[in-house]
Amino acid sequence: MYKSSYNKRGIEPKNIESRFEIEELFFSTTDPKGIILSGNEVFIRVSGFKKEELIGKPHNIIRHPDMPRSIFKAVWDTIKSGKPFVGYVKNMAKDGSYYWVLTCIYPMFDSEGKIKKFLSIRLKPTSDLFKTIPDFYKEIMKIEQMDGVDKALEFMIEKIKEMGYEDYDDFSKKAFLEEMRSREKSIAENITACGMGGEGAVSKENEELADKLCSLQTIFLRLNRYFNNIYNKINVFLDMNQDLSDKSKFVFQLAEEIRLLSLNASIESYKIKKEGVSFSTLSQEMRKNAEYSERQIIKLTELINETNKDIETTSFNILSSKLQIDMVVYFLKELLTKLAEITISEEEEIEVIQNIKDLFELLKFYSEKLSSNVYESKSKLRNIYYNIKDLNVLINRLDFIHINGLIESAHTGSDGGSFTIIFSQMLKLVEAAKAQIIDLETNITTASEENLSIDIINDLIENKILKLEKKYEDIFVQTG
Ligand SMILES: Cc1cc2nc3c(=O)[nH]c(=O)nc-3n(C[C@H](O)[C@H](O)[C@H](O)COP(=O)(O)O)c2cc1C
Repeated sequence: MYKSSYNKRGIEPKNIESRFEIEELFFSTTDPKGIILSGNEVFIRVSGFKKEELIGKPHNIIRHPDMPRSIFKAVWDTIKSGKPFVGYVKNMAKDGSYYWVLTCIYPMFDSEGKIKKFLSIRLKPTSDLFKTIPDFYKEIMKIEQMDGVDKALEFMIEKIKEMGYEDYDDFSKKAFLEEMRSREKSIAENITACGMGGEGAVSKENEELADKLCSLQTIFLRLNRYFNNIYNKINVFLDMNQDLSDKSKFVFQLAEEIRLLSLNASIESYKIKKEGVSFSTLSQEMRKNAEYSERQIIKLTELINETNKDIETTSFNILSSKLQIDMVVYFLKELLTKLAEITISEEEEIEVIQNIKDLFELLKFYSEKLSSNVYESKSKLRNIYYNIKDLNVLINRLDFIHINGLIESAHTGSDGGSFTIIFSQMLKLVEAAKAQIIDLETNITTASEENLSIDIINDLIENKILKLEKKYEDIFVQTG
């Protein structure tokens, strides 16, 4: 059962923020039950605990009483099912002060596919979306206290939908994107390889480790630059996604209107006696075509919806890989700074290496995921492209039928009046559909090109990762 640890520590929460900089990233790993295995310097400093006080303790050691239990239920339901969780969390430091983070918790798997640990990266939330979260959580908390966790979760989903998101997953992906964008905008300083100064002061015992970390940092910084090329494409991709779904919705509506008008035309044709023969042939043809086009459009809309989901997954995997690379870079900087100040023990060195290994394993996992995403999208985009081509042929035929219809109805005199109206309305709709379909074709071509460029850069990154793994076998290869 899910139980609360409401202020288990008996510490009075203080309305004081435990501050940290936007550049700073938190890192921690836990076992499958949420027991902390390791944490970085930022985590230790901001939480106010000593490292020994955190390691071996449940992660709820930093739980803030303002946090709704329902959020943690969502956390555990998600990560236990093997999916990553992204969400806002208010934490409480040892002295009762608070700090907000956007947390990304990634499950990690053993060779049998079982969850072996969780790795969490947390960043400082600064987006406009975040400004709404404290009040939102207060509302959730109220419902929770009155009606329990399940009702609070229902309320949360309802609210999220009202805000225009599909579900929590959709909301968290957008939040992730907003926070990463906002972070990128505010980070002025670029970490330069081993540029934190003082590395000359590294003790003899730690020299070898410092050298290794230094060259790793150089490689990861390069990886970071490559990856930024992919990351910068997210906007293009997401705009395209929006455009695609808007257009497909529009074409879908048009198809329905065209079908209804065709139905009207064939009803009208029965009313006309003499000329009815040619009209009824025409309108039957029109109806057949319109119905067929509608079926094609439904298929196309489904394909586009699937692609939309794929693009969202791709964006999430790009954001995750970017955050993981940023985390490695930051972590290495933190370690090198520490090595310049103190000598670390052999045990600590083992922990450091384990953390880098974990981050690297995760990065490999997500970059492989990204490759398969891109590969799958490739065939889907091709499929959409051919569908659009088919639709083009159909629409052109509809166009032809309607022009004929207009000519026929013009010859018919007064009896053909209602046809003239129907056919000219229809012609307008078909022309509009045609224009949208041409646009769609262009969108899909651009999407395919963008997809291809991601594929190429990602191949390059995967290659680099493999080389990196070879070079630093002693660090990266799992020893069991
Ligand atoms: C990797 C990982 C990171 C977590 N990070 C936090 C955190 O930053 N703050 C927090 O309150 N809970 C965090 N949790 C959730 C806690 O395990 C716990 O569910 C939560 O604090 C609620 O505690 P409770 O069940 O005792 O009420 C994390 C869990 C995992 C697996």
